[in-house]
Amino acid sequence: MSNRLQRFLVTGGAGFIGSAFIRMGLSKIPECAQIVNLDLLTYAANLDNLTEAASDPRYVFVHGDVRDEALVEMLILKYEIDAIVHFAAESHVDRSILGPRAFYETNVGGTLALLEVVRRHPDVHFHQISTDEVFGSLAEAGSFTEQSAYQPNSPYSASKAAADHFVRSYAHTYGISTSISYCTNNYGPYQHVEKLIPYMIASLTQEKPLPIYGKGDNVRDWIYVDDHVEALWNILAHKKPGAIYAIGGECEKKNLDVVDCIVERFAALNNRSPASFRNLITHVEDRRGHDLRYAIDCSKIKREMNWRPKHDFSSGIEKTISWYLKHPERLVLL
Ligand SMILES: NC(=O)c1ccc[n+]([C@@H]2O[C@H](COP(=O)([O-])OP(=O)(O)OC[C@H]3O[C@@H](n4cnc5c(N)ncnc54)[C@H](O)[C@@H]3O)[C@@H](O)[C@H]2O)c1
Repeated sequence: MSNRLQRFLVTGGAGFIGSAFIRMGLSKIPECAQIVNLDLLTYAANLDNLTEAASDPRYVFVHGDVRDEALVEMLILKYEIDAIVHFAAESHVDRSILGPRAFYETNVGGTLALLEVVRRHPDVHFHQISTDEVFGSLAEAGSFTEQSAYQPNSPYSASKAAADHFVRSYAHTYGISTSISYCTNNYGPYQHVEKLIPYMIASLTQEKPLPIYGKGDNVRDWIYVDDHVEALWNILAHKKPGAIYAIGGECEKKNLDVVDCIVERFAALNNRSPASFRNLITHVEDRRGHDLRYAIDCSKIKREMNWRPKHDFSSGIEKTISWYLKHPERLVLL
């Protein structure tokens, strides 16, 4: 019997990153014998992300809430789960500024509920999907590592940080097996239209304004979603209790430059001049408490797992724009 993790309970698998994780697991990871996707199907979910998975005998979808401990416990027993990979969250910073409570309830309460179940089933490994945003904002130089201090600035990042602290404390206090990964901004196919890159593509297709917070100077490190989930499958394959990894795309860009890249590619694909679309860029009042810069030093995972991001921004954005243009139903602005 292999020592490797084979039977996974994935939470939030109908969302953007969770669905990419499931697609890769079923198509590329030979050890993957079972994936149970527990998702509440909030506004952010889309089961069309998993059309192919639905016919795979190793895959089961369960409509439910991660805070439902009895349901999670039943799934662990029924499917003989050996790892929980916890993506389920409220994930949009702007929404967290408008209404923090849902972030507390889902991100903190949901994580705590899952940890309570793992406490009763300590053979189950728990992997927490965290974010570089828990470390706060950087000035123009430097980058976050696994050792960076938590300094969350938004209600979203505060809720993720609190959840991470519970994960750490359960490992320390109850001896359960956990790991945490901190990733930078993801982009790629299947992302909800409210997020920056699909929102810009949607606005371009409709020739609507391209709103940019403030001067557009905020810097994010962008990673193509498949590079992120490949890193996660590597971490799970090694299953080191207590492991923490920072995952980044090695691709820092100012928001204005991201939008400019999208405009260039979009114009080229439509045989138009970029200037006609650049006129749509509109600077709007900055986000409250907007973090200036995030950047990740991912040398630990590169060294230990021989992983590296395969996509640079131009190849990733090309794939992303092409995918959205083939899926106009994903570009309906709310
Ligand atoms: N998107 C990014 O750039 C990024 C970067 C780093 C980390 N993360 C983290 O990765 C994870 C996934 O992010 P995403 O962008 O795929 O999010 P998403 O918003 O696309 O998907 C979240 C999913 O969680 C589900 N969900 C929400 N509440 C639930 C509940 N109570 N029970 C069960 N399911 C529930 C939703 O229905 C949805 O399918 C999150 O934990 C997020 O904090 C995201």
